[in-house]
Amino acid sequence: MKLVVAGGTGAVGTHVVDVARGRGHDVVVLSRRTGTDVRSGQGLADAIAGADVVVDVLSTQTLSADVSTEFFTTTTRALLDAEKRIGVPHHVALSIVGIDRAPYGYYVGKLAQERLVETGAVPWTILRATQFHEFAGQTYERATLGPLHLAIRMRTQPIAAREVAERLVELAEQPPAGRARDLGGPREENLADMMRAYARAKGSRAWIPAISLPGDGGRRQRDGSLLPGPDAQLGTQTFDEWLAAQRL
Ligand SMILES: NC(=O)c1ccc[n+]([C@@H]2O[C@H](COP(=O)([O-])OP(=O)(O)OC[C@H]3O[C@@H](n4cnc5c(N)ncnc54)[C@H](OP(=O)(O)O)[C@@H]3O)[C@@H](O)[C@H]2O)c1
Repeated sequence: MKLVVAGGTGAVGTHVVDVARGRGHDVVVLSRRTGTDVRSGQGLADAIAGADVVVDVLSTQTLSADVSTEFFTTTTRALLDAEKRIGVPHHVALSIVGIDRAPYGYYVGKLAQERLVETGAVPWTILRATQFHEFAGQTYERATLGPLHLAIRMRTQPIAAREVAERLVELAEQPPAGRARDLGGPREENLADMMRAYARAKGSRAWIPAISLPGDGGRRQRDGSLLPGPDAQLGTQTFDEWLAAQRL
C-alpha cells in the first residue's frame, strides 16, 4: 500500500518508515528536511496523491500549550483537508497515554489534535503510546540551564520507539479502528534516572541535578497520571536493554 509518513524523519517516524519499507509498502516521507512543510499545506495534495493511509507522527519542541495547540491544529487541519480532497481513506495519528488526566502544556495541543481527528471527515485510528525510551535523550538535550543538564522527575512506563512504529504500521495496514488500545512499555521507570543513565552512556560524568517541573502539569508528571492503565498493551524491550543496544 502507499503509506505517507508525516514526520518520517523524527524519533518514531524514522522507525515507521523503516518498518513500513521492510513490509513492502511504498513509503512517502513528509518533513521540512525532505521538502514539505505540512504547516503551510502547500504541495500537500500532490505529495499524498494516491495514498492508502497517512500516518501523522509530526511534532514540535515546546512546553507551551498555545504553541503546541497552534502547531497540532494547523498541521492536522492541513493533512485532513488534503486527505479529504483527494479521498485518502485512513488517517492514523500518534498521541500520548494519559493526556486527558494531565491537560497541561504540550499535551493541550495533543488533545486538540485528537479532537480534530475524531470529528474530521477522514476515517481514523488514534494510538496513544507512553514516552519513548528515546525521550530520555530528547529531554537530556533540551532541559539545560547554561552548561548544566537537568534531570526531570516523572513517573513513566517507557517503550522503544521501534515497538511503537511496529504497532503504528500494523494499525495502518488494517481498517480505521477509532481509538486503539493504549500502548506502554514493560515496566515503570523514573525519567530522571533514565536521563542520568543516558548521560553516563554518552560518557558524561557531569553532575545532573534532578528537578520537579512546577505547576499542575509537573505534579501530574510525578503522580502517575501518565502511566498506562491495566488494559494497555505492553511492549517488551526495557529501557536498560534499549540503552545497552545504542551507539551513542
Ligand atoms: N517522544 C515521545 O516520547 C513520544 C511519546 C508518545 C507519543 N509521541 C508523539 O509522537 C509524535 C512524534 O514524536 P517524536 O518525538 O518522534 O518527534 P520528533 O523526533 O521531534 O520529530 C518530529 C518530526 O516532525 C517533522 N516536522 C516538524 N515540523 C514540521 C513541519 N512544519 N512540516 C513537516 N514536518 C515537520 C520533523 O521533521 P523536520 O524537522 O525535517 O520538518 C520530524 O520528522 C508526536 O506526535 C508526539 O506527540 C511522542
